[in-house]
Amino acid sequence: MMQCTDIHDRYLFRLITKRSFLYTEMVTTGSIIHGKCLEQLNFNSQIEHPVAVQLGGSDPYDLAECAKICSNLGYDEINLNVGCPSERVQKGSFGACLMQDPELVNDCIKAMQEVVSIPITVKCRIGVNERDDIDFLNNFVSKIINPKLKTLIVHARVAILKGLTPRQNRQIPPLKYENVYQLVDEFPELEIVINGGIKDVDESIQHLKKVDGVMLGRSPYDNPMIVSNVDSRIFNDSDMGKDRKMILSQYLDYCLAQANKGQPYSRTLKHIFGLNRGLKNAKSFRALILKTIQEKNLEITKDELISMV
Ligand SMILES: Cc1cc2nc3c(=O)[nH]c(=O)nc-3n(C[C@H](O)[C@H](O)[C@H](O)COP(=O)(O)O)c2cc1C
Repeated sequence: MMQCTDIHDRYLFRLITKRSFLYTEMVTTGSIIHGKCLEQLNFNSQIEHPVAVQLGGSDPYDLAECAKICSNLGYDEINLNVGCPSERVQKGSFGACLMQDPELVNDCIKAMQEVVSIPITVKCRIGVNERDDIDFLNNFVSKIINPKLKTLIVHARVAILKGLTPRQNRQIPPLKYENVYQLVDEFPELEIVINGGIKDVDESIQHLKKVDGVMLGRSPYDNPMIVSNVDSRIFNDSDMGKDRKMILSQYLDYCLAQANKGQPYSRTLKHIFGLNRGLKNAKSFRALILKTIQEKNLEITKDELISMV
C-alpha cells in the first residue's frame, strides 16, 4: 500500500507476525529504471522474509529489467499491479486499466518469468467499469494463465476508471466475493487470494473455506494488533507472544536507531497511530506522536508513549 507498507511499517509487522506474507508499496518500473526509488526498494533481508515487491508498469522489457533487479535484491515474489485505478497510473497505461488488455498482461508476466526464477504473481480487480460479470473476469484470467503463474490476488471490486478517486474506488463499488470464489473451480491450478473489506482473522478464516489465501490491507494498517494471533490461527505456528507495550517499545527503539541514521521521525512514527486502537486515549496518543515528530524528541516521549498503549 502506497505511503503505508514501506520498510519501517514492515519492520513493525515483523514484530507482530513472522508468517504473514508482506508486500511493498507499488514501485513503478520508470522510477526503478531511472534510479529514483532505490530507497523504496530497500528491504531488511534479516527479518522481512517472506516479502514480495509490487511492480507497476506495462512495458514487458522494462518489467523484465526491474524483475531482475528485484530478484537480485532477494525478494521472494514479484507482484504485478493490475488493480490500481488512479488517474496518474492510467496515464502511464498500467494498473487496473490493464485488465482491458489481457494479452499485454500475459506478455508482461512471461517477460518477467523468462528472466527470474522467483514467482511472478498478479493483483487485479474483479473487473473494470460496468464489467463486474464473471465472464469478464474469467476471460481475463484465461488469457494470462500459464503453468508458471501460481497465484492471483483479486480485490473483489471493480475499478471505475473515470469519475472516482482511488479512495472512492476502495469504497463505492460493491464487494462481490462470489466472483472471486468461483475462480477456484474455474482455475483449480491457480492459488486464489481474496482481498477487499476483510476486517480480521475471524473473517479471513471464513474466506479460507472458499479460497486459498486472504490479503488484508487497511484493517491491519489501521490496527496492527489484529494480526497478533495470525501465526497460530492461520499458520498453525506459535505466535510472537508480544503485547502492545513490548511491540511499541521495540519499534520505538528501532525509530531511535533510524533517527541516528538520519531517517526523519515523520517516516517511522506515522505507522504507530493505530497501535492503541480500541483504547481510551487515542486522541492524546495521536497528539503525542505528532508532537514527537515536530519536536524530534522521542528519547523524551518514549516512555510516555509506551504507557499509553
Ligand atoms: C493508502 C492505500 C494505498 C494503497 N496502495 C496500494 C498499492 O500500492 N498497491 C496495491 O495493489 N494496492 C494498494 N492499495 C489497495 C489495497 O492493497 C487493497 O487492495 C484495498 O485497500 C482493499 O483491501 P482492504 O479492504 O483490505 O484494504 C492501497 C490502499 C490504500 C488504502
